[in-house]
Parts: sequence; structure tokens; C-alpha cells
Amino acid sequence: QELQLNLEQIEKGGYDHFMLKEIYEQPRAILDTFRGRMLSNEGIIRMAGVDDNIEKFLNANRILIVACGTSWHAGLVAEYVFENLTRIPVEVEYASEFRYRNPVITENDVVIAISQSGETADTLAAIKLAKSKGAFVFGVCNVVGSSISRETDAGAYTHAGPEIGVASTKAFTTQITVLTLIALKLAQKKGTVSTSEFHTYLSEMDAIPAKVEKTLKSDNHVKTISNIYKDATNFLYLGRGYNFPVALEGALKLKEISYIHAEGYPAAEMKHGPIALIDEQMPVVVIATRKGHYDKVVSNIQEIKSRKGKIIAVVMQGDKTIKKIADYVIEIPETLELLTPLLTTIPLQLLSYYIAVMRDCNVDQPRNLAKSVTVE
Ligand code: G6P
Repeated sequence: QELQLNLEQIEKGGYDHFMLKEIYEQPRAILDTFRGRMLSNEGIIRMAGVDDNIEKFLNANRILIVACGTSWHAGLVAEYVFENLTRIPVEVEYASEFRYRNPVITENDVVIAISQSGETADTLAAIKLAKSKGAFVFGVCNVVGSSISRETDAGAYTHAGPEIGVASTKAFTTQITVLTLIALKLAQKKGTVSTSEFHTYLSEMDAIPAKVEKTLKSDNHVKTISNIYKDATNFLYLGRGYNFPVALEGALKLKEISYIHAEGYPAAEMKHGPIALIDEQMPVVVIATRKGHYDKVVSNIQEIKSRKGKIIAVVMQGDKTIKKIADYVIEIPETLELLTPLLTTIPLQLLSYYIAVMRDCNVDQPRNLAKSVTVE
């Protein structure tokens, strides 16, 4: 048994938990995911699974994304990215709903299935249904040779490496990386982004691993914030645009590993319900990057403040306005709005991690959850 423990210690590479190790692996995982695919100096993106089927993508009536859990959140980010860059209509669905609701699928649809494990039963069934209707099915998986990667017509792997912690971290950011590369590739082909915009996206993507590294430096600060709010019974997460799905993901992380009730909401929807929950006991995590409807988010923050809610804001470096009103701010480096989810996610992962540790929860194997859900 001692040997077993030592082996686990070695596998954790000096970190207390797999989750923390995996959070810290993200700069490398993102780099590994675009390495060899994105040649930023030459302005080239090459991905065999996309290149070989480029006409299918370019002629698609729409792209349908199916997934579960965190992968579904990556799909939501991708919806914003794809529609903005490629002008191809995108719909995102829970695989479990899609497979049972008799959806309209045609041969002109491209279905993208996202799955870390590549084994999720509902996602696998959704793929089989889409294939039977003649759609072209593309997989974004992490586990090489998994069922979903074999069942799909083509695909692109995330190169996150093994993810052991049940709560998904590096799989999420690498899924967003792969999907962004695909969208950029299609946008270049379709001419829906200019050459100079395309180059800017590529060089900004190139800079992301270093910026994730920099974002990870907020670790101690996030730990301090975690200590202050660890006993809260409810959390609210708000974000807009590209960061609305990040708010959902932040809330999911907290629920999964610390067993605190948390809800993610698009910031503007707050007034249609969640605002009723706000009192002095309620921490509200707000993602407020400077380019994403900033003024509107600032006014949401003021509304929370006037109801005595506690505000933890994730802002872009150098932000002054929100610093004055929020209880705590966590800074991320400046980047293009479309790429901010790759950075804003990081402090939310750390927040849930530290709160869970402080509450003595089993971070890597939370109760009632499984890493891969192979039953319905
Ligand atoms: C489980 C895991 C989640 C994961 C979801 C989808 O619920 O605990 O972390 O996001 O399944 O899994 P997949 O492997 O398809 O991405």
C-alpha cells in the first residue's frame, strides 16, 4: 500500500492533487494542441481532419455541436467563435436531449461531437443518430482511440495528455483551442476574416500559453479570496458573450468539487431572477473583460453592490473602474476578446479548487461523479 501511495505521489508530480497539476499543465497542453497545426509566422493552419473534409465544412448549412458537461460548455464558447468568424450558423445541444427529441438533421449538416473521454454514452448515441441521418460527424476528443474518435467520420484530438481529476480543466481549454483553430481555418477559406485579422488571431493565439502562465500567478491571491468565501452556501457566476459559457463552467466547477450551490448566468439575465437572491451573504463572480460589453457589465456590478452582494471580478490588466467597486479583482493579461475564455477560466478553476480543499472535499474524486459516464 505504501508503494501504491508513492506511485500516486510521483504521478501527481509534486502537486497535492491531480486537479491542481492539470490546471498548471494548461500552458503546455494548449501549446501541444496547436503545435504543428498552427504556423503563425506563415499564416497557416493545417489540421488533416479538417483539410481532408474542407468542402463539407464550407458547404455546411449549419454546424451542430453535441456534448455533455464541461465539453458542452466548450461547445457554447465555440458557437460564439464560429458564428463570429465563419458566419456559419451553429447550434449547441446536450447530447442527451438531442438523441431523444427526434431532431431535424440533414446531409448538409456538420455535427461536431466534443468529448474528453470519448466514451460518454449520450454523446456516442447522438453521433450514431446523426450518422444514420447522413450528417458528416467530426469528433474533438482527448483520449486517442476512444469510442467516439473511432465512431466519427473525422476529427481532431486535443493534446491535453491524460486528465485524471474528475473535474475537467485542461481538457476544456484545449477543446476551445482546437475549435478556435477550426473556426479560424474555415474563416480564412471563406474569406470571412481579412488576412490581417487572421494574422492577428494567430499571433495572439501563439501568445496564449505564456499568458495562461501569467494568469496562474494569481494563484495565491485566489487562495486568499477562497478562504474568505469558502463557507458561502450559494455562488452566482456572471459573464457575457464569449465569457457567458465561462460563467457556466465556473459554477459547474464549484458545484462539482466543493458541493456549494452555484449558478452561472448571462450577466444581463440577472435581472430576470437571480437578482432576487442577492444579499450580503452572496458572493458573485463577474467576468468583466474590457472589450466584452464592458459598460453593461459594470452597471450589473453596481446593481449587485447596491444589494450588498460581494463581488469577485475577473478583469483585464490595468482595469481601474471595476477595481473601485468590486470587493476583489483578479487580473488576466490583455488579449483579443475572442480568446479571453482561455484566460478567464483559469482563476475560476483555482477558486473552486482552493475552496474544495479548504472544505476538506475529495477534489480529484468528488462524490457521485465519474470521470467518464458510459451509462445513460
Ligand atoms: C462527466 C465528467 C465531466 C465531463 C462530462 C463529459 O460528467 O465528470 O468532467 O465534462 O462527463 O465528459 P466527456 O468525456 O464526454 O467530455
